[in-house]
Amino acid sequence: MLEPSLLDKRILLIIGGGIAAYKCLDLIRRLKERGAVVRCVLTRAGAEFVTPLSVSALSGEKVFQDLFDLTDEAEMGHIQLSRDADLVVVAPATADLIAKMATGRADDLASTVLLATDKRVLMAPAMNVRMWQHPATQRNVAQARQDGVLVVGPNEGAMACNEFGPGRMAEPAEILAAIGAALAGPAQSLAGRRIVVTSGPTHEPIDPVRYIANRSSGKQGHAIAIAARDAGAEVVLVSGPVRLDDPPGVTIVHVETAAEMLDAIKQALPADALVMAAAVADWRVARENAQKTKKQAGSGPKPLELTENPDILATIGTSSQMRPQLVVGFAAETENLIENAAAKLKKKGANWIVANDVSPASGVFGGDRNTVKIVSRDGVDALPTLSKAEVASTLVSRIADFFGDDNRHSGGQAG
Ligand code: CTP
Repeated sequence: MLEPSLLDKRILLIIGGGIAAYKCLDLIRRLKERGAVVRCVLTRAGAEFVTPLSVSALSGEKVFQDLFDLTDEAEMGHIQLSRDADLVVVAPATADLIAKMATGRADDLASTVLLATDKRVLMAPAMNVRMWQHPATQRNVAQARQDGVLVVGPNEGAMACNEFGPGRMAEPAEILAAIGAALAGPAQSLAGRRIVVTSGPTHEPIDPVRYIANRSSGKQGHAIAIAARDAGAEVVLVSGPVRLDDPPGVTIVHVETAAEMLDAIKQALPADALVMAAAVADWRVARENAQKTKKQAGSGPKPLELTENPDILATIGTSSQMRPQLVVGFAAETENLIENAAAKLKKKGANWIVANDVSPASGVFGGDRNTVKIVSRDGVDALPTLSKAEVASTLVSRIADFFGDDNRHSGGQAG
């Protein structure tokens, strides 16, 4: 386990009301041992589980409990308290605290500090397994993540309430490692690399008002662009039509059709890597109608004549001139995942295929989570079910490993 030095780092620890609050006393001790300055906010419910006296004795600091405490406000207002930290840690993060974070409520000191802070927030959720699994909590966690809150745990195991499952707060050593990682910031492992990422569906026009499309939301592709940017890469994101904000700090090229996407990629090359996360339409209409196609009374609809789109991944992956050193494709499959992905790896000249199950039951399209397998010549690497942001950061660290390794043993171009 990572044992970071936290010399002079200022941690604001918000202790919520859960049985796991006792673990915070150990966390405070470990933080202090590593040189951190720890200030604590104890919620009213938190004070039912640990006493202000033990928190202040271990932290060596005054404990903050009340939003309307006149002395506290005179000495250090809640706004200053929220800013005067390098990192805000919420542990245990109860269902109630997470709901407040997700909705921006500020009705006590803890939630007000969380809304007022301009620092990163790391939370360690802890609650009963059913409360954790409740769609409302999952929605709130997803929202908090989207707002940039970092999450450690919860772990699976036996709970104080005699139930079993996810909901146990991460152990102090795990929280400590997450604090170290959050304070270190993302490693610039792709500094100096240029990466082209594609995202979203393509729209293939039938006439001026209709088009052929697919269900891709672009969430996975955009998350990869963001993760590559955070790792220091120069990123060009070629995106089909999506309902997502343009990520700051990347060059974005908006396209509609597969043909436009191929052109945009050619323009963006040369690059070190191409990640084809877009769900490119395989076919387009052979002859796009210049005018809106009208109904013909009595004669029924005219069949649509389709023609094949260029296979972008194969075009670039098998080109001796254009091919980046690393080419990553995706394989959206509803059956025979590995076989189909392995076939695509070969046919399209990719180093890796990130295979995902997009059968309706998987909820991948439009959802926030993804279960993928990275298929390369070396074999199959099955990742657990992760958020799309986590899939993206895992993939980006694999990409960084690839470039960190001169021999590029992790799957050269498939032949
Ligand atoms: N792809 C591409 N150009 C196309 C079709 C797909 O570049 N015209 C890329 C996708 O971006 C993805 C990979 O190829 O990285 C696999 O896409 P997928 O839709 O799963 O495969 P297809 O080749 O369309 O095969 P099939 O529809 O038979 O599953």
